[in-house]
Amino acid sequence: MKPEYSLEEIKKPVLQELKDFDAHFRKAMQSRVALLDQISYYLVKTKGKQLRPLLSLLCAKLFGEINQKTFAAATLVELLHTATLVHDDVVDESDQRRGFFSIKALWKNKIAVLVGDYLLSRGLLTALQGSHFDLLEILSSAVSEMSEGELLQLEKARRLDINETVYFQIIRQKTASLIRSACLCGAKSTTENTDYLNQIRDYGEKIGIAFQIKDDLMDLSKDFTGKPKILDIKEKKMTLPLISALAVAPLPLKNRMISLIRNHNENPKSIQEVVSFIHEYKGIEKAEQTMYAYRDEALAHLQKLPNNEANEALVKLSYYISSRVK
Ligand code: IPE
Ligand code: IPE
Ligand code: MG
Ligand code: MG
Repeated sequence: MKPEYSLEEIKKPVLQELKDFDAHFRKAMQSRVALLDQISYYLVKTKGKQLRPLLSLLCAKLFGEINQKTFAAATLVELLHTATLVHDDVVDESDQRRGFFSIKALWKNKIAVLVGDYLLSRGLLTALQGSHFDLLEILSSAVSEMSEGELLQLEKARRLDINETVYFQIIRQKTASLIRSACLCGAKSTTENTDYLNQIRDYGEKIGIAFQIKDDLMDLSKDFTGKPKILDIKEKKMTLPLISALAVAPLPLKNRMISLIRNHNENPKSIQEVVSFIHEYKGIEKAEQTMYAYRDEALAHLQKLPNNEANEALVKLSYYISSRVK
């Protein structure tokens, strides 16, 4: 039996701090430009799960008292995350986000690109204003890694020559880098112990990888996720379930699947054939096993850290990340 926890339950130890975070986040997005303010309002209204700020707060609380630097870390991380989502929906041509229209669907690409840039710069300014140069350094490099990851993914989508090694490089860069930084920056606000910081960084990296594998699985699931379904195949993104199925399929079938993705990626019937193929060749199960292995590696790092309420919540959050439906 794998334990399952709700996000409400996990958030309990930092409930008040999450409210304070909301205020910081809203303030950081404020602008005198009416259009920007209107879009910020929409973004706040359609906020997501806030997993990254939650990770920052819990990783801080693991070692001490949540403080202004913790809030700067959480705010900065969520601003960068929001910026990348706004841009990502332009890149992925996605009209739905968090169960609502995406920014690019409502305001179109030009505005979405500029809003993403604005959020990104507000994030970096938040760190500068508090003179949190260490946070600035960690998160600026996370941002450049994320862009590299998304670009590598685009390059591979053109050539369809992705293997498992490249897949992990992509998700480590585009997703795990920010989640790792969310954990590390939170912890840095309350401890300077390098052993602790190394454990937290490795925890964040592993759980970040599990997080993206789950996201890729959800793209193929029947659950309501608030995002468009089977978009990855349409966008020629080869994710772990597909890569795992291709790895064990007979060569002619493998070639047929690649050709369907290359030439018929807009055709619903072809997409359905690829999805059935993934199921038939156990791509889902294989990707799930890999995800659980990363989650368990993440949990092993938590065992080496102080055992308290925050640690317990992080354990639950790790289970949540690999069992969530959205
Ligand atoms: C979505 O992240 C983007 C990925 C890295 C897969 P989340 O699922 O954390 O997004 P929100 O903020 O909760 O909507
Ligand atoms: C994660 O990849 C994107 C970012 C790191 C911004 P996806 O493209 O799979 O994310 P979703 O599914 O659109 O949220
Ligand atoms: Mg996307
Ligand atoms: Mg996705």
